[in-house]
Amino acid sequence: MTTERPRKTLDDSHYYHPEFKYTHDNPYHDKLAVFDSFVLRDEEAESNVGQWHKMFGNELPLEVEIGTGYGEFMLEYCQKYPNVNFIGLDHRFKRSFGLAKKLDKLEHKNFRYMRARGERLEYMFGENEVQSIFYFFPDPWPKNRHNKKRLFQKPFLNACYKILKPGGTLFVKTDHDGYFEWMLNELKDETRFEVLLESRDLRSEYPEHFLSQFTTKFEKIFLSQGTLIKSIVLRKL
Ligand SMILES: C[S@@+](CC[C@H](N)C(=O)[O-])C[C@H]1O[C@@H](n2cnc3c(N)ncnc32)[C@H](O)[C@@H]1O
Repeated sequence: MTTERPRKTLDDSHYYHPEFKYTHDNPYHDKLAVFDSFVLRDEEAESNVGQWHKMFGNELPLEVEIGTGYGEFMLEYCQKYPNVNFIGLDHRFKRSFGLAKKLDKLEHKNFRYMRARGERLEYMFGENEVQSIFYFFPDPWPKNRHNKKRLFQKPFLNACYKILKPGGTLFVKTDHDGYFEWMLNELKDETRFEVLLESRDLRSEYPEHFLSQFTTKFEKIFLSQGTLIKSIVLRKL
């Protein structure tokens, strides 16, 4: 189905621009309006910057998942931890609609869902507003000429640094060796984060870790293929 209309650049830097506007004609955009009590679409996702505690009506920690996909993690986590305010986001329309149908049935309503792009983090959240960011099995963009489309690079790290509280945490898991090495390379000169965990085989090295305690839909597939799960956990200093 259609996504944002492509630009002719190989990177996605325009998504970071202050003037960026979402443009698309995907029918699921309108369908998602049925769930407008908890779904924010496109620019709507940017209307609560620094004010999410008012939207939730409490001061509980704000936790954000980028690329929710089919939502296994979000569905399980925000019900298991009702004392957080959870925001999931993904840019795929039909997948967002499918997840919204499931979210609608949950008991605890401690969440919002955004049909939006991860590149817009700093426009969706205020400085020091977020306690945790979860980023699991991102699209790897394996071809060299597409590498620049990878979300995990400096503008993203800048945004994470800006929106995380001091001591706030970014949790990442990936199946992809090349993307993992890319991430480590992006972190080479970083002095703003402490590396709490770095593993090329999370499940064997850290079986008790929180990140080994749940399995997303994509992770199940990778594990069944014998792929090792790579992971990195960063803490904002
Ligand atoms: C490989 S899937 C993983 C989904 C889920 N995290 C899991 O582990 O099962 C990657 C997801 O990230 C979403 N995604 C990729 N790039 C994104 C971006 N820039 N902003 C928001 N979502 C994105 C895709 O639409 C897709 O649903």
